Amino acid sequence: MSAIRQSHKTRHIFASFLRNCQAARPLLLFPLTICIAMLALMKDSSKPAPRKPNPAAELAGPIAARLDRPVVLVGLMGSGKSAVGRRAAKQLGIGFKDSDQLIVKAAGISIAEIFELAGEVKFREMEQKTLGNLALASPQVIATGGGAFCQDTTANLLLQHTLTIWLKASPATLLSRIGNTKTRPLLHNGDPLTMLTRLDKQRALFYKKAHIHLDTDGLSTYEAMMALLHALDTHLPRQ
Ligand code: S3P
Repeated sequence: MSAIRQSHKTRHIFASFLRNCQAARPLLLFPLTICIAMLALMKDSSKPAPRKPNPAAELAGPIAARLDRPVVLVGLMGSGKSAVGRRAAKQLGIGFKDSDQLIVKAAGISIAEIFELAGEVKFREMEQKTLGNLALASPQVIATGGGAFCQDTTANLLLQHTLTIWLKASPATLLSRIGNTKTRPLLHNGDPLTMLTRLDKQRALFYKKAHIHLDTDGLSTYEAMMALLHALDTHLPRQ
């Protein structure tokens, strides 16, 4: 008799457990759904994000592999030799050097002070020595001072050992890019636009000797860099 009562009791407990479970179902379903959603999200975020197209990097990679000499940027002040050169070097994964910066570092005074204290002739000597060393170095991008390529010895050295690119722009564009003319001693002796127009006329015949000519008028730094990479791609022999 007591065994039958015991079995009734067990059945009763089990039935009430099932009823409770059913009642608690909505409460259990909510955290379960959250867990499933979180797992799905974690799975999704572990997938690598689709790569954004990078035209500069795609263009630059194969060019860097074909470069066997330094790329030297020539042209008037404000033509973008430093800004474009630095950016192109970064894309190409090679070094960047600015001859003016190296001269300033070696002299311990500014370009304007070198001109004032030692004169332009001394500055050109320092420029030729600096670029002479850079021309024989491994592939890298080199920005020259605007007058460097107008010195025969320096120009011949660069033409022989490097790939020279003339960055062209109109005097008005150059002046707008230069902004503050204080650091440009050659623009101190008169109206800067007139001085730049004169320099442009005097120097074009030297810059024309460069291997590649690039018109950068109206181009942003990025666009000029892309134009430079395209020009390198066209100019360098395919391997
Ligand atoms: C010069 C240009 C300057 C600098 C110096 C002389 C020139 O460099 O080397 O003031 O003769 O045109 P940037 O072309 O970098 O301004």
